[in-house]
Amino acid sequence: MQDVKPRLAWGITGSGHFLKESLDIALSLPHCDLFLSRAAEEILPMYGISLNGLKDRARVYRDTTASSVPVGLFYYGHYHTVVIAPATSNTVAKCALGLSDSLISNLFAQAGKTRVPIYLYACDTEPEMDTEAPKDWVKVYPRPIDLEYTRRVGEMDGVTVLHSVEALQIAVEQRLRVAPTPTLGDVHRDLDTLIGEGRGEGGGDGRR
Ligand SMILES: Cc1cc2nc3c(=O)[nH]c(=O)nc-3n(C[C@H](O)[C@H](O)[C@H](O)COP(=O)(O)O)c2cc1C
Repeated sequence: MQDVKPRLAWGITGSGHFLKESLDIALSLPHCDLFLSRAAEEILPMYGISLNGLKDRARVYRDTTASSVPVGLFYYGHYHTVVIAPATSNTVAKCALGLSDSLISNLFAQAGKTRVPIYLYACDTEPEMDTEAPKDWVKVYPRPIDLEYTRRVGEMDGVTVLHSVEALQIAVEQRLRVAPTPTLGDVHRDLDTLIGEGRGEGGGDGRR
């Protein structure tokens, strides 16, 4: 039987920009589940982070299903808050355009539709930035279109865009102080029930 108290869902995309710092915050939180994009899974080892190491410390959901089965948990009150950090240009653009064809863009869309607050730390916030490549820090120049999508996402109801990991940490701490106190009655079904519904031909839950 799962711990059925509402939890925090933390999405990680394929970005090296403050990846380790973002993960440090996520792993320090109680009741926090990690959702990885396919690109995130690829780049984690480039930054010295092992998937197995993460699985030892948190529940990890991978992007392995066409319908993003794990985000069905939002229909049953499993998550009180979503954080997406770091968020790539790609995922931010999808979110801004209302696309939901990946695990993290579905996390964003389903949180929005179920009115769960979203905190997003975007990679592209300034026209000139320092970012961490696997071997070194490098200068990048986000394009006007990248900045435009970051701005548009920040204008959506229920979405807060953060411009630094420090601001992200403060926002998450403040949110956790007021996040709804869970009661068992808030949650109608447990994860195993949902996964059972999600199984079928070509199914699977994305959890490892
Ligand atoms: C080492 C490495 C670091 C990357 N860092 C970034 C980044 O900081 N920001 C970004 O927008 N894309 C970055 N990318 C590119 C994304 O991983 C790529 O656009 C991917 O398609 C994003 O998919 P996702 O949004 O589903 O995670 C990086 C790629 C590599 C290989």
